[in-house]
Order: sequence, then C-alpha cells, then structure tokens
Amino acid sequence: MTDWQSRAAALYDGGFRPMHIGGRWLSAHSGAVMEARNPATGALLATVPRGDAADIDDAVTAARRAFEGPWARFTPFERQALLLRIAERFEAEWETLCLSDTLDMGMPIARTLANRRRVIGMLRFYAGQAVAFHGATIPNSFPGEILSQTVKEPVGVVGAIIPWNAPIAGSVWKIAPALATGCTVVLKPSEEASLTVLMIARLMQDAGLPDGVLNVVTGTGPEAGAALAAHPGVDKIVFTGSTATGQAIARAATGNLKRVSLELGGKSPVIVCRDADIDKAVPVAAMAVFANSGQICIAGSRLFVAREIHAEFVRRVADFAKALHVGNGISETAEIGPIISARQVSRIEGYLAAGRAEGASLLTGGERLTGGDFARGNYIAPTVFGDVTDAMTIAREEIFGPVVSALPFDTLEEVVERANATPYGLAAGIFTTHLGTAHKLARRIRAGSVWVNMYHAIDPAVPFGGVKMSGYGREGGIEHLEEYLDTKAVWINTD
Ligand code: NAI
Ligand code: MG
Repeated sequence: MTDWQSRAAALYDGGFRPMHIGGRWLSAHSGAVMEARNPATGALLATVPRGDAADIDDAVTAARRAFEGPWARFTPFERQALLLRIAERFEAEWETLCLSDTLDMGMPIARTLANRRRVIGMLRFYAGQAVAFHGATIPNSFPGEILSQTVKEPVGVVGAIIPWNAPIAGSVWKIAPALATGCTVVLKPSEEASLTVLMIARLMQDAGLPDGVLNVVTGTGPEAGAALAAHPGVDKIVFTGSTATGQAIARAATGNLKRVSLELGGKSPVIVCRDADIDKAVPVAAMAVFANSGQICIAGSRLFVAREIHAEFVRRVADFAKALHVGNGISETAEIGPIISARQVSRIEGYLAAGRAEGASLLTGGERLTGGDFARGNYIAPTVFGDVTDAMTIAREEIFGPVVSALPFDTLEEVVERANATPYGLAAGIFTTHLGTAHKLARRIRAGSVWVNMYHAIDPAVPFGGVKMSGYGREGGIEHLEEYLDTKAVWINTD
C-alpha cells in the first residue's frame, strides 16, 4: 500500500457521519441516510444524513439565532482573527482535506493538493477584507447641517448550494466572504460529495467559530436544496451548479424575494489563432477541457482553431490526450480521475454517441474505460472530436466530461460571432502572439472571464462569474463582498 492508500483506509470506514446544525452533530429528523461512495472503486466510504425540509428549517433557525446573537457581537477585527485561525487549521489539515476529496469525488490527489495556494489564499484574502470594507460620508443637497452616510451591513442568513466538482474550493468560496461580512450560512453540499464539507465544518468549529454561524445540511437537491432555496428565513442564496437547477432556484427565491447569485454552466470557447505559439498552446488548450475530467464549469469544450493550423493542432491535442494518465486519483501519477457517478457516465456516453451519429470524426477516446483497474470505477477516455460543426449537439450542450469539440474557423469576425453563439457566457481562452488580436477578441467575447495565452486562472482577489445563462453575481475580489452586503443610508439632522 502506498502512504496515501493507508491513510485513506484510516479516514473512512463505511461508518455514519452526522451533519452540523447549530453547533451539534446530528442525524436527519427522518433518520434517512445516503451513501458516500468512491467513484474510482465504488467502495462505500461512509453514510451521511439525508436531510430534508425539517432539517433545513432547524439550520435556518440556528443561523438566524447566531446572526442576531453571538456572531453580531464579533467586531470586524475579531472576524479577521478567526478567519486567519481557520486558515492555519487548513494549512495543518490540508493533506487530509485533499485526500477526503480525492476519495469522495475522484479528483487526482496531485490536483487537490495543488489547490492549496488558492484555497488558503482565499481564507486570508477574506480575512483582510473583513476589516477593509466600509461605508462613506456623502455630501447631499439639503440646506442646513444634515449629515448623510452609508453603512455596509451583512445581508443575514445565506443559503449556499454547491456541486460535487470542487467541494473544498467551492465551499470555502461561499463561506469565507460570509464570515468576512458577518453573515451566517446554511450550506447544502452535493449529495455526490458531502464528506469533505463536513470535515471543513468540524475544522471551523475547532478553530472557534460560534455555533450556528456555519451549518451543513447534507441531502438531495429536490429535498434539502429546494427547501433551502424556498425558505422564507433565508436572505440570500448563492448557488453553483447547472443552469436548469439555477433557474429552479431563482424561481423558488421569489417567495420572499431573497437575493440570488448564480454561477452556472458553460460551453466555453478556446480560440487558437494562426499566429499562436503552438507548442505552448497545445497542452493548455488540452487541459482547458480535460482538467478534472472535464467536470468543471469553465471547461474549454469548444476548440476553435484557425483553418491553416487546424489539422496539425487537433492531432497534437489528440496525442496529448492519449498520453494522459487516467486512473484512481489516489495514485500520485494520475492526471485524470474518474467521473463522479454512473449516471454522469451514461450522460457523457450519450454525447459520445451523438458526436459519432452526427458525423464528427473521432480522433481519440470516445468510450468508457472498463478493463483491469477501471472495472469498478466510472472512467471515460479523454476524447477529441474533429470536424465538428456549430449545429452538432456536442458543440452546443454542456457535456461535463473529458470531451472536446474542435471546429475550424477562417476569420476573426467569424470566430467572434460563432464563439458568442451560445446561451452561455462563463469563460473563454484566446491563443495569439498578436497584441491587437488579443485585445480585440478579449473585448468582443461575451464571457465573465477571458484568458489570453493561459487558462483556468482563478484568484481570491479577482472577480469570477458569468454573463447570459451562465448566471449573475461575482465571486472573488471586492465585488464578492458586495454580494453579501446591504448598503444602509443613515441621515442625521445635526441642527
Ligand atoms: P445540479 O445543478 O442539479 O446540482 C448542483 C447542486 O444543486 C447540488 O447540491 C444539488 O443537490 C442541488 N440541487 C439540485 N436540484 C435542486 C433544486 N431543485 N433546488 C435546490 N438545489 C438543487 O447538477 P447535477 O445534477 O449534479 O449535474 C447535472 C449536470 O449539471 C452536469 O452534467 C453538468 O452539465 C451540470 N453541472 C454544472 C456545474 C457547473 O459548475 N457549471 C456543476 C454541477 C453540474
Ligand atoms: Mg462520492
């Protein structure tokens, strides 16, 4: 056994892991449980409560009580100190957190470990923000001595709903700004990957977070998730996940007009211009889609390549894909791990079949991996389709798997139009050595993030989010804090 394997065996033994409400560790009221399985092996890791509306109700009550009670008495500097203590705990427990995620959702251990700078950086960035935001004193048009000023106040109880594809970063991105601003949180992790989020709740409790400031209710989307989105005691919902679920959440939120921010799906274009540095662009364009087995909202799944270099570039991306080491994420050499669930595998297989049936040419991959070590897990071979046209299903829909559609283009005007011809607008990649082309494309592509001669960069200090049906609201940067704050105007007649 490798070191990671022996540590894995000690971490999860199939036993019950309770959820976290009001500082207590609890079963669901109903007593129902869900299984947490390792997508690389099918092994049962643990069971967790299958919470529903009754548990969500308790969690919202606990969050409200904390918001109005002990948490309201924390000064900004005390919240900052607590966030920094939490960051220290993350430093100390980092490998265990990463191992837990690798076991529960499959991301290769090398990749989870590599997220350290970003995740712990987030905690420290928001610790800084806790003491930095403030209102203003604003001149007004009234005669006499009338003072007008603004005060920034936390929105209140935040309901956070996250997907399975990056539980550590995904939950910290919701929790840290809430703690910085003085909000409290009810977090509903994905039913496919709850374990690390429970571990994070334990770690924050140990660091001294008061009871009820962070509550984690495990459960399914239709039960726990829908109850949270509709709950009249929740002031704001922050959601990351599919566009269809985002729409359901926005509808559910109308009851009490709670604020909503949504980070949804994508069909992000990667544009490789004729003058691109091909040696540098090939691995970046390939990993733009294959990273995390394509289970990433910003996956660069439409690869537009200038016609002059299309054949060579796509062949080289296919060679890169063939050389990727697919395997159990617990192996340090695995670059591509399993797909989260059998359901997602069949969904992806449906797209592979559609690609073939609609006439795309398959350069590599195109199938589920089943032999040997793959037998018990959910694996799809990294797949490259060439000669794809804009109308094909694989060029239009979010696949959420390791599948790229390569499309040739002739002019910049044309590629801008085609890249923007999607309901989504999350991200885009541009490869060119021409400064003017970089600027022109970056300005004209409708997306929340555009990367030039790079991909994937997400930083605590830089805003991230979507336009069009990729959602609204921003995470990261100063914009993120505003999502968790209300602005109150205070008028004082000093006469
Ligand atoms: P999903 O969007 O349904 O799930 C994300 C979260 O929302 C989970 O915690 C889930 O329990 C919760 N949820 C589901 N239905 C809900 C409801 N009615 N009310 C409140 N919360 C609800 O995504 P799912 O089913 O896991 O994956 C399906 C497809 O969605 C994927 O194949 C992919 O295309 C897309 N997706 C995109 C993500 C992104 O980051 N862009 C993340 C996850 C999924
Ligand atoms: Mg799992």
